[in-house]
Amino acid sequence: TATPSSVRPAAHFTARSTWLNDPNGLLYHEGVYHLFFQNNPSGDTWGNMSWGHATSTDLVSWQEQAVAIPATAEEMVFSGSAVVDTRNTAGFAGPGQTALVAIYTSARPPLDGAPGIQAQALAFSLDAGNTWTRYEGNPVLDIGSTEFRDPKVFWYGGDNGHWVMVAVDAVDRRVVFYTSPNLIDWTLGSRFGPCHAVGGVWECPDLFPLPIKGTQETRWVLIVSLNPGAIAGGSGTQYFVGDFDGTTFIPTRITESTDPADYDWLDYGRDYYAAVSFNNVPDDRRLMIGWASNWDYANETPTGPWRSAMSLVREIELVRTAGDRLRIAQSPILPPEQSPLHVFDLTVPCTPGARTTLVLTGDDSGVERLTITIDGGERSITCDRTQSGAVDFHPAFPSVDWAPLPDQNTEEIDLLIVVDAHIVEIYAGKGLVTLAEQVFPTAPFTRLHRETIHGQK
Ligand code: FRU
Repeated sequence: TATPSSVRPAAHFTARSTWLNDPNGLLYHEGVYHLFFQNNPSGDTWGNMSWGHATSTDLVSWQEQAVAIPATAEEMVFSGSAVVDTRNTAGFAGPGQTALVAIYTSARPPLDGAPGIQAQALAFSLDAGNTWTRYEGNPVLDIGSTEFRDPKVFWYGGDNGHWVMVAVDAVDRRVVFYTSPNLIDWTLGSRFGPCHAVGGVWECPDLFPLPIKGTQETRWVLIVSLNPGAIAGGSGTQYFVGDFDGTTFIPTRITESTDPADYDWLDYGRDYYAAVSFNNVPDDRRLMIGWASNWDYANETPTGPWRSAMSLVREIELVRTAGDRLRIAQSPILPPEQSPLHVFDLTVPCTPGARTTLVLTGDDSGVERLTITIDGGERSITCDRTQSGAVDFHPAFPSVDWAPLPDQNTEEIDLLIVVDAHIVEIYAGKGLVTLAEQVFPTAPFTRLHRETIHGQK
């Protein structure tokens, strides 16, 4: 029989038979979406970190390609980004060629008692991403740190613009901003942090502009993953909205509160980490992918021969909400033909006395279940996976996760629940609140049972 450990997600990318973690180098080029990823090409747990590679033309079916940048004895290839060097600023392209350039963290092993250094390095492709060559001048940015990683690079400005790199001083909980004319020579522009959630190391930053929906205004969004210390526990992703002038990021809403519920989270579930956006997507769309797991237990999840999956691709917008707060709203890219997934699209009451329980199950007994509760009085959503099947492979796995529902002055709340083998993604309140959760039931969840109680408050 099909157990969750043998049912592979359809629209969430998994590597054929190996381990993956963070999405890397997300890039659109000549009709193809490239998804590189942290990959152990020879194992199903973290190690030998290399850039795996997958491609798609529709963002829902992915073809795994050959490993793009393999680990060597001298370095592991940690997270980073990729750009199209349209202006040939780095000089890698010959006449008539266009270079794709990957900017990754070269993580060197400790040597002779000296600690391993993390520095930023380049690799380039002259055949539209099929094959990659390391730059012989690597590393291009080495500050002698053991915790300096995850460069996200993009072009800022027009013809007179420059490259911007956002990276982290991970243990100092700081995002650092560098600029360069050519991807090779980098100058420190500014630093941001520590700020808001700081209960773990900062990793995998991203920075991009987004129009405020329904206006002519634009703001910049700074994405910061942290591990541990996320709102649901373990690793997760927060964001800041603000302005950016090419070197410095200024947030527009900083709270002194120490309650994580007052910060902005890209996801409130346990399984959405290291989320970053694609470069070069047409029509100014902003598309993101997160890693659908959590460092608390990622190496032990009961699947095989693959381990870990990416999230669905999420299209994001910036929306002005109650109290003038600017927040990210997300919607998943779903296959046009949704039969490989189970998608539940519903509206539930969100009035003071109303409490709705949604139970996802895989069989009639309902013994194994995921329970989602919408409490109109508290305006909250909780997701309980303590009875969801295999939960005891790690003590941190069984969880009840909570999120505040957006203040929309409505008596109802819309929910989109996408179930794809061992991953459930919940989008609530026009995507202003999302929860991504892994589940490992004996029979994959396919049914949704719903009950509303209109009590007194
Ligand atoms: C985040 C992370 C990154 C690092 C990579 C190594 O999950 O720790 O900071 O580059 O994973 O695989």
